[in-house]
Amino acid sequence: MRKPLTDRPVEDGSMNGRMMQLEFRKAVKEDVPKLIMFLKDTIVEVYGQILSREILQPWVEGDRLSSDVNQLWPKMIVAEKADEILAVAASLDDKVAFLWVHPAHHRKGIGSAMLNIVETELEKSGYKTAKLECFSDNDRAMGFYLAKGWKILCEEMDEEAGALKIVMTKTLTNESRECANGP
Ligand SMILES: CC(C)(COP(=O)(O)OP(=O)(O)OC[C@H]1O[C@@H](n2cnc3c(N)ncnc32)[C@H](O)[C@@H]1OP(=O)(O)O)[C@@H](O)C(=O)NCCC(=O)NCCS
Repeated sequence: MRKPLTDRPVEDGSMNGRMMQLEFRKAVKEDVPKLIMFLKDTIVEVYGQILSREILQPWVEGDRLSSDVNQLWPKMIVAEKADEILAVAASLDDKVAFLWVHPAHHRKGIGSAMLNIVETELEKSGYKTAKLECFSDNDRAMGFYLAKGWKILCEEMDEEAGALKIVMTKTLTNESRECANGP
């Protein structure tokens, strides 16, 4: 069953200031083909400048994305508008495992809303702090997480990806979320 996680509308600037009603909900099995398409469509925009073509190839052309989504979809939440998936996020244990907003919809508050939902779910699961990993060269995501109150813990080598990644952490309290979300 499709269960909304929040009914808070997110304003889409491309709609001339009108409210675009986004639904934030847990992913369901029927989303899997759309999720694979969404991630395949955006992976080069997200990681093309950060990871080598050889490293990306199994995801872009092979079946790594498909097998990851088939395994991870029960942990995913989606932002959807008119049957189109605009963003995907997932948690795994105490981690924000990933958060992707479609490039056509960046800087409209969708990433913030998704992150807020994931952090709330982690807190409800009993975690007091959360972690995430972000490639060091992913300036856009680093800017986003720092703005959302995440702190840098350390930098390490991701051997599989052949790139440096930053481990970040955040204390999960309503107060820290409200501060990071602004007035
Ligand atoms: C990172 C990402 C999730 C942000 O999502 P978003 O919906 O664009 O973010 P929001 O609109 O909620 O931005 C909230 C705040 O974060 C900061 N921020 C967002 N994008 C930023 C950027 N490119 N540079 C610097 N700061 C940024 C700003 O402070 C922004 O507030 P403002 O727009 O009022 O200035 C999105 O860019 C994305 O999906 N990137 C590709 C996937 C990715 O790299 N995911 C993270 C992997 S670890």
